[in-house]
Amino acid sequence: MTTFAESMKTVESYAEDFELDLAWFDKRGEWGNEVIPGRHGLTLEDIQVGAYGDVPDQSDNMTGRPRGAVPRPDAFRVGSYVVRTKSDIWLANAAMLYEEALQRQWSSATDIPWHTIKPLPDDIERAECQLATFLTEVEFVAADVPGRWIANTTPDYFEPRMFLISQIMDEARHLDVFRKRALANGGGLMQRPSVATTSGIVGGIDMSRDFTEMSARLHISGEGGVLTMFRMGEMMSYNQAEERIYRLAAQDESRHVAFGVMHLRYLSEMAPERMEEVHTYLDEGERGLLGGAAAAVGGVSVSQNPAARDTLSNDALAILLGGGKDHFDEGHKKLLAIRHRQVKEYVQRIRSAGFGERFENGRANAELMMIAQS
Ligand SMILES: [Fe+2]
Ligand SMILES: [Fe+2]
Repeated sequence: MTTFAESMKTVESYAEDFELDLAWFDKRGEWGNEVIPGRHGLTLEDIQVGAYGDVPDQSDNMTGRPRGAVPRPDAFRVGSYVVRTKSDIWLANAAMLYEEALQRQWSSATDIPWHTIKPLPDDIERAECQLATFLTEVEFVAADVPGRWIANTTPDYFEPRMFLISQIMDEARHLDVFRKRALANGGGLMQRPSVATTSGIVGGIDMSRDFTEMSARLHISGEGGVLTMFRMGEMMSYNQAEERIYRLAAQDESRHVAFGVMHLRYLSEMAPERMEEVHTYLDEGERGLLGGAAAAVGGVSVSQNPAARDTLSNDALAILLGGGKDHFDEGHKKLLAIRHRQVKEYVQRIRSAGFGERFENGRANAELMMIAQS
């Protein structure tokens, strides 16, 4: 086998013949690390070797330079990155979640058994289409908002950036699968969610000026509630196609929620001075969750949880869960059970994120605690 020194010699004589300037040959990052593919192939985790695994607590990289590459002084200052402090966006396992996202992509065109959708009673089909219209819009928000943070984050923190890119792909697929469901059975799109619903989501999530603020609202409050609902999707499915849509979408949502939980956990450990601030986002999120629970018993929804805010969707859900408009009350009871489960799963996630003290010290919403303990 030719050694590196020997091949350099050959290249140098070649360069002399052709008058090539090979000064760039010596401009390289760390070299010669041993990289071994693991059980899941060659993952990003496997190439976190030597200095390439070192993630700076603060990043001064304003030029788009890949982490570990050699800087060049004449580079354009292309990135006015807002996120250049590690604890602002980091989590322990972003690379792993990203790899999982890549390995679990699915196709709304071919992985859903669309042929199992048969004609449904008119009220059920209308409720199905109303819910699909609502979800189509909500999924767009879930892609659009994290998208804005990608270009605002230093390339030194590429792992969470790439996870967010994978989330956008997931949400695009969710958007399209619910749009397809609306049209797949002879129905179509219905009225869009109320202005209060969408402006609430946009106001609450999209106006966030800080990544953690956005993540607490989107990944924990918003997608957490949607995840619980998708997990219960079997209860409101009328064929295998709908069951599969909810199951596959729930698999994706659980990754998005895990990202948010793991980021809060990292922040609670590395930047405890920000905990009070995060508790304030959670105060707001809990009021939203309760809005959902209140809506399910006929109250006025003021929820930040998109699946709970919209009265149109709540009515559609109750019809789907009950088995028709004549069983609306029964459907409402089932919806209330889902809302309670949303609260309980929220409590588990917050504990796992390192903010469980709020449930012991009286900070958490009293009404929410009553539901959680019921
Ligand atoms: Fe989604
Ligand atoms: Fe999501």
